[in-house]
Amino acid sequence: MIEEFNIGVVGAGYVGLTTGACLAHLGYQVTCVDRDEVRIAFLKEGRTPIYEPGLEELVRGGARRGCLRFSTELSKTVHGADVLFIAVDTPQGNDGSADLSSVGAVAREIGDALSGIERLRPLVVVNKSTVPVGSGDYVSMLIEEGAAEGGNGTIAYRVVSNPEFLREGSAIYDSLFPDRIVLGADTRDALDTMRALYEPIIEQTFPTQLDPRPKDVVPFVTTDLASAEMIKYAANAFLATKISFINEVATICELVGADVTSVAHGMGLDERIGRRFLSAGIGWGGSCFPKDVAALRSIAREYDHEPVLLDASVTVNEHQRRRVIAKLQRDLHTLKGKRIALLGLTFKPNTDDLREAPSLEIAHLLDQRGARVFGYDPVAGKKAAELLPSLRVVFDPYEALKGAHAVVVVTEWDEFRELDLNRVASLMEKPPVLVDGRNALDPRDVKAAGIRYRGFGRG
Ligand code: UDX
Repeated sequence: MIEEFNIGVVGAGYVGLTTGACLAHLGYQVTCVDRDEVRIAFLKEGRTPIYEPGLEELVRGGARRGCLRFSTELSKTVHGADVLFIAVDTPQGNDGSADLSSVGAVAREIGDALSGIERLRPLVVVNKSTVPVGSGDYVSMLIEEGAAEGGNGTIAYRVVSNPEFLREGSAIYDSLFPDRIVLGADTRDALDTMRALYEPIIEQTFPTQLDPRPKDVVPFVTTDLASAEMIKYAANAFLATKISFINEVATICELVGADVTSVAHGMGLDERIGRRFLSAGIGWGGSCFPKDVAALRSIAREYDHEPVLLDASVTVNEHQRRRVIAKLQRDLHTLKGKRIALLGLTFKPNTDDLREAPSLEIAHLLDQRGARVFGYDPVAGKKAAELLPSLRVVFDPYEALKGAHAVVVVTEWDEFRELDLNRVASLMEKPPVLVDGRNALDPRDVKAAGIRYRGFGRG
């Protein structure tokens, strides 16, 4: 029997919606709040505004069992909640630092809603948004300010930090079977509440269709607020740097005639290194790595520290996009008037997210050089067309390839591994060129179809 909790989740984006749906799946009463009325109306109809495998089913299941509700009223949700998660955007500001205006506005509103209300237990305010180190205190300060404006400065609440490590495309799996749960707080009672709330995940006792379960027990890491906030930045910056490292190695592999896929395999078998996040290619994008690395660099500079390693990681990542252009120029020479097909537009497969997607930068660089750029993506074609008017989006991969001088595999969606390469070759201008931005295809298959193969770091 799990302890009963009423939970509010503020922000119905990737993180908030996944968190809400998963907590409802555990059996808690959850209300997801968002100020976007259209989004909430959509969710009330059982539809999800984002593409994330399995999320819609989980949302509908939660709503059907009466565990999951949606609302635009934050103050009402605050009144009914034992635990309130903040999962709103912290976008990158102009100077690279995280923009805390949404988190700040929510904190003030929480303070206002709490003022004058008698509570049996303090409200636990859980910050899931990625915020600069020290923001836990900032959230407390704004809650107090909001309360003071509401006419009552003495309110009962605790702020804890609970950084999120979910990956888009496997968000539900990552939430229910995480490698660890990290909790930062300054008071014991808040940690105890969070330990009880996460008990079904820590002990892996919730219902699942997976057999066997991938985990027996999940480590629960407790620390202070600042360290919890830092863990998130350090983890993402490390992963981004790991990718930039293998991309640098890939470039050297090309120069010396080595194959980076073998190198990554051989390196990755060392348990201290590990095989994951050693796939070379056009580099990292998405809503987290670019933003978090930028924010960590900005934090370091605020304290007059030059983050040379993080700077280099970003420089390598920027080079990777440009290397696509260099590879195309080696075969096609001038790109002016050449037709180039981009396969995959999202920043990675199984998501419709185009934030910091390499495709956008590559399409822009090609457009600057006078190429005619055609793009295809299994889910995000329409969205991409709105973002980049110069990109001609089509809705069939073979359509994109018709008359193309070269094709670039930008995102490794499974369907690109299944392409009929002979058909690809027959549709393209001769000699056809394929730049494999993700080293996703077998070079032997591509060459056998009469297509020139250009991978990243493959000799
Ligand atoms: C990431 C973190 O993994 C997650 O823990 C955090 O909470 C949010 O940021 P996400 O952005 O969803 O998750 O994507 P992820 O699967 O980590 O990939 C990030 C980027 O790195 C993608 O652009 C991907 O294509 C690229 N990548 C990943 C590589 O280029 N090579 C690799 O080996 C792995």
